[in-house]
Amino acid sequence: MKIRRCAVLFIEPREDLGIDWAALFSGTGALGAALRWVALAPHLDRETTIDAAQVAALGAIGQTAWTERLDAERQLGAAMVDSLLALGLLLDDGASGSPARERDALLRAQHWRPLSAAAHMFSRWDGMQVDKGMHFPSFEELVQAYGAPPAPAIGRGDPEAAIKLPPPASGPLDAQLMQRYTGRNYDPDAALPLDVLARLLQRTFGAQAERMVAQEALVFKKTSPSAGGLHPTEAYVLVQRVPGVAPGLYHYHALHHALEPLTMLDAAAASELARQFVADQHWFVDAPVMVVMAARVARNFWKYRNHGKAYRALMLDAGHLSQTFYLLATEAGMPGFVTAAINEMVIERAFGLDPLSDAVVAVCGCGVAAAGQTTLELRFEE
Ligand SMILES: Cc1cc2nc3c(=O)[nH]c(=O)nc-3n(C[C@H](O)[C@H](O)[C@H](O)COP(=O)(O)O)c2cc1C
Repeated sequence: MKIRRCAVLFIEPREDLGIDWAALFSGTGALGAALRWVALAPHLDRETTIDAAQVAALGAIGQTAWTERLDAERQLGAAMVDSLLALGLLLDDGASGSPARERDALLRAQHWRPLSAAAHMFSRWDGMQVDKGMHFPSFEELVQAYGAPPAPAIGRGDPEAAIKLPPPASGPLDAQLMQRYTGRNYDPDAALPLDVLARLLQRTFGAQAERMVAQEALVFKKTSPSAGGLHPTEAYVLVQRVPGVAPGLYHYHALHHALEPLTMLDAAAASELARQFVADQHWFVDAPVMVVMAARVARNFWKYRNHGKAYRALMLDAGHLSQTFYLLATEAGMPGFVTAAINEMVIERAFGLDPLSDAVVAVCGCGVAAAGQTTLELRFEE
């Protein structure tokens, strides 16, 4: 049997801080720090504490070529090899296969940049409630805790030499730009008309034109830019209230301009899922529609293989799409939102997405504004 190390592995000397009760009572201090090695292997999707001997052993086995297991055992000891295989940090080529080896193969097939894979896999949330668990502070509370924030604008260079620019001319885009705001008060009874949803989805996520840029390489022209012209961002839709579309989970087909039903939900289940998606930010839950933006990483990484900028490009793509979505919502006379404070793992389970291949990036949504403003918004007219 042969073995090799998993494709991507980072090892962190983690410091855990805590109260040192003995030191506190003896009056020598109160803060205790414990150090341990943490293996961050994205294919495992969990942090693994290992010891110093395991760290050294992992450094002795390569991730590319397969090594005879017996040779590794002679060098490191059978118990060590067993322990690392059991943790899924070493993989064998046995006929029976293993979940860790399958995950590792999937990771290798995507062409992730290793640091990006770790950053993505270990920054996802499950069951987070930002409004409660992590505390969502107001600006007043933040100023109390941290003092004033850095100034909103800065000067650079010689102020005397600054070239004063003419006032901006008005333009047709102003109609949307000057009305756009993040809505945090949605009318819980209002529906999103189907024609508004259709325009929102098609003009944000839909193909406006198709172009064969090489044999077997088809790209879409969309209303937002996309790194490499590849448009890897897929739109997954949670419908709560759209006449003619039952509450549930859908995938939007960018070319067919169609909602593909995945799971039907009753109204209560759809609302509960919405709450979990946005990590308990109750001010977004009543939006009649939410759109999850998830990047099909292989589409971008097909060109940008093991590329230091590729993950950043995925984030930027979603940012552009969200702004286009906001402006279209504004045009329809309603506020929109985007949030990255989301429970990616809940979303992955709901839509059946694997984070190694389909990276959930952000959630946007929109709907009719409620009459009053319970949660803070920054509207232009105020
Ligand atoms: C990447 C990103 C993440 C955001 N996340 C949240 C969020 O988690 N919760 C929220 O209420 N607003 C969120 N927002 C909205 C911002 O708070 C909002 O844009 C900002 O306060 C300025 O207000 P405006 O959009 O009305 O101009 C986010 C915006 C962006 C671009």
